[in-house]
Amino acid sequence: MTKQTVLTGITTTGTPHIGNYLGAIKPAIEASLNSNNNSYFFLADFHALIKCHDPDRVARSTQEIAATWLALGLDTDKATFYRQTDIPEITELTWILTCMTSKGLMNRSHAYKASVDANREAGRQDDDDVTMGLFSYPILMAADILMFNADIIPVGKDQIQHIEMARDIAGRFNHTYGTLFNLPEAQVDEQTQLIPGLDGRKMSKSYDNTIPLFSSSDDLYKLIKQIKTDTREPGEPKDADSSTIFQLYANFATAAEQAQMRAKFDNGIGWGDAKKELFEFLDSYLAKPREEYNRLINDLGFVEQQLLKGAEKARSHAIPFLEEVRVAVGIRPLTWQGSSTAKVEEKQEKEQSAEQVARAEEGRRRAILMQLKPQLDRVNSAEDKSAEAKLLIAEKQSEVETLKKKARQKAQNELDFLREELAELLV
Ligand code: TRP
Repeated sequence: MTKQTVLTGITTTGTPHIGNYLGAIKPAIEASLNSNNNSYFFLADFHALIKCHDPDRVARSTQEIAATWLALGLDTDKATFYRQTDIPEITELTWILTCMTSKGLMNRSHAYKASVDANREAGRQDDDDVTMGLFSYPILMAADILMFNADIIPVGKDQIQHIEMARDIAGRFNHTYGTLFNLPEAQVDEQTQLIPGLDGRKMSKSYDNTIPLFSSSDDLYKLIKQIKTDTREPGEPKDADSSTIFQLYANFATAAEQAQMRAKFDNGIGWGDAKKELFEFLDSYLAKPREEYNRLINDLGFVEQQLLKGAEKARSHAIPFLEEVRVAVGIRPLTWQGSSTAKVEEKQEKEQSAEQVARAEEGRRRAILMQLKPQLDRVNSAEDKSAEAKLLIAEKQSEVETLKKKARQKAQNELDFLREELAELLV
C-alpha cells in the first residue's frame, strides 16, 4: 500500500491556544503516528510576513509554535517538521508556479477580496494596504503543498479555497509541462471547527477570545473565570450543551467524565464551581506538556536543531524534485541532453495507476469548474436559463474559432466542459 502524504502549515503570527491544539495540533500529531502516513508539518514563517510586520512577534511566535509541537510529543523522526524558510526550493517553486497562475484566479481569492471589501466599506481605495504578498498568498501555499506532492491537507474551512487553487495551479502545470504534481485534497474536520472561546464565539486570535495553551496555572484560572455564562443561580439546572465551560471540558474529557459533568450541570452546579472544575481538569491535563514546553523554550538551541534536522529531510526530497521541475520548464544546464518529456512519461507509466488517473481527471474538472464558475452562475441566475445557456455556448464557440493552437485547445476543453455541464438546458 502506498503511503499517503499528509501536510499542513502553521502561520507564525501568534501564541498557540487551545483551539489550535484541539483543531490542528492534536489531530496532526495523532495522524503522524499512523504508519500509513508520511507527515510533513511546517512553520509557515514566510506566510507570517503577509499579515504581521512586527519582526519580534514573528520571531517569538516561531519559537513558541516550534516548542509547542515538540512539547506535545511530535516525534521528529516519524514526521518531517521544518520551517518553510529553511527550504529555499519552496520559494523558487513559488515563482515557477506564479507563471502558471492566472491573475483572474487570484482576483477571486477570499483573503484578498475580504481586504478589498473592508476597504470599500471604509470608503478607501480598493487596494489600500493590499500587498502583492496578500494577493499572491495562495501561490506560496500551493508551492508548500506541491513541493512534497502531498495528498491530504488538514485545514480549517477558511483554507479550502486555497487547496482548490493549488489543485488548479498543479493542473495547469501538469497540462503544460507533463504530470509532475499530485492534486491535493483538503481535509476539514467539522467537529474541531467548533471550539468556543471565552465569549462563546469560535476560539480565534482575531476575536481576541483565546486561552493560550501553556499559560501559567494562575493565568489559566483567570482566563477561565472570564468565560461568559448566563445569569442562572447555583441550584438551577443548566444546559451543558450550550455552555462554553462544558464544551471546553468535553473536548478533553473521556465519555465517562463528560457524563459526570453533564449530571452536575443537570443538578445545578454553580457557574463558579463549574469554572473551578474546568480549571482543575485542564490544569492537570496540561501540567506535563507545559513543563516540557517551559523546558524547551529555555533550550531553543535544541529546538533549532530539531528544525534543521527536519529541513535536511525535507530538502532531500525538495532539491532533486525542484531539479525535475526546472528541467521540465526548460531551465537546464546548457549541456543538458534528453527529451523533456521522456522522463515525465516514464514517471507517468510507473506511477499512474487507474485510480490516480481518475483522480487527476477529477482535479482537472474541478479546476475548469472554478474557472468557469462566473459563466455558470450567469446561466443559473438568468430568468430563461435555457436561452442563456445556449447563448453562452454560442459565445464560447465563436471564441474557440478565433483562437489558435494551445489557446484554442484550452477554450475547446472549456466549451466541451460547458456543454456537458449544461447538457440539460441545451436540448
Ligand atoms: N495559510 C495557512 C493558514 O493561515 C497556513 C499554511 C501555509 C498552510 N501554507 C500551508 C496550510 C500549506 C496547509 C498547507 O492557516
